[in-house]
Amino acid sequence: MNGKHILVGVTGGIAAYKTAYLIRLLVKQGAEVRVVMTEMAKQFITPLTLATLSKNPIAVDFFDPENGQWNSHVSLGLWADCYVIAPCTANTLAKMANGIADNLLLTTYLSAKCPTIIAPAMDLDMYAHQATQQNIQTLRSRGVGIVEAEDGFLASGLTGKGRMAEPETIAQAIDDIFKHSNTLGGQTIMVTAGPTYEKIDPVRFIGNYSSGKMGYAICEELAARGANVVLISGPVKLKAKHKNITVVSVESAKQMYEACQAHFAQAQAAIMTAAVADFAPENIADNKIKRKGGMTLNLCPTNDIAACMGQMKREDQTLVGFALETNDEETNATHKLQSKNLDFIVLNSLNDKGAGFGVDTNKITIFDNKSNRTAFDLKPKSECAADIVDKLEEIMREKQS
Ligand code: CTP
Repeated sequence: MNGKHILVGVTGGIAAYKTAYLIRLLVKQGAEVRVVMTEMAKQFITPLTLATLSKNPIAVDFFDPENGQWNSHVSLGLWADCYVIAPCTANTLAKMANGIADNLLLTTYLSAKCPTIIAPAMDLDMYAHQATQQNIQTLRSRGVGIVEAEDGFLASGLTGKGRMAEPETIAQAIDDIFKHSNTLGGQTIMVTAGPTYEKIDPVRFIGNYSSGKMGYAICEELAARGANVVLISGPVKLKAKHKNITVVSVESAKQMYEACQAHFAQAQAAIMTAAVADFAPENIADNKIKRKGGMTLNLCPTNDIAACMGQMKREDQTLVGFALETNDEETNATHKLQSKNLDFIVLNSLNDKGAGFGVDTNKITIFDNKSNRTAFDLKPKSECAADIVDKLEEIMREKQS
């Protein structure tokens, strides 16, 4: 915790009084703390209390009405190594899940590049409501850490699940993030992600349904653990968040291959998650092809990028592949493990509900080149990413020892 920048977001709930104690705990452990509050939070605890404890002025508005000084949500988000919102009301939780940005605390959430943790606090019925649970699930699937509410006596006089977790529990969750945060410090890791588009003519291409979500989640996990990530990305709708991720945007399998050739030698490891086209049109028409009855398209094979990296791989490098299968899953995956000279392969089957393209969850099985097989439950892709990166770290440690 020492020297870490922790941004504490406070929303309007009675548990805000416990945030004073959380801030004191963080400061005592050597963290530098800044606080952003909502207007409603000020009704529950004074800015003066939190400013005194955090030793920093409190940010509430986009600007100071007294002198017009601008509170930049972007620089607050960039300053933070961790953003913890405690208490997080049902209202703020719902806004976060839906990208609503009507106060400084929320705009900061949307622009922050660091890990975010929330500690929900509300009455038991609000907490149990399907809408709240779904919002929590949405945030969890986007990689937000959830410090679950606890069971007990509530301000309403009722008893049940909804109390904000104790400050010690929240501080522990922050500490856990930092413990993991530098295990890959100084390592460069290359990741391919997304689909490739193979042009037919200026308006058409051959593509596939890959959303890039799994690959991007892996990049965030690697970066959060301190790695410098080179993300070679096909066309996707996603944005890499973490400042340690450098994105190299490509479109075709050929461009992805060339980018990998250029970056692999400098990397200690590579994770090939991209759904690369196996075939590309032999010729790209200069002009839009006109409709005139049927047509035949001649395709030629693209480079198998993972297999090429497998041939280039040095002893000290670790290479990871993916296999998305529809049948004979294990046989196909273990065959790819060997033929591409991978250290391990991550299998996901389109036959598993909740796994595959576009969804936020995945169900993976990892096979390594020592015949170990580890099957995981269906989980948010952010949690699958952590399992994959744990395995990567294990193998990298073995190679370095
Ligand atoms: N891969 C690659 N370049 C290709 C094809 C695949 O780098 N041209 C990588 C993928 O990123 C993945 C692994 O190889 O890590 C397996 O990809 P997959 O599409 O499952 O297998 P293929 O080798 O293409 O075999 P097939 O499509 O016949 O199942």
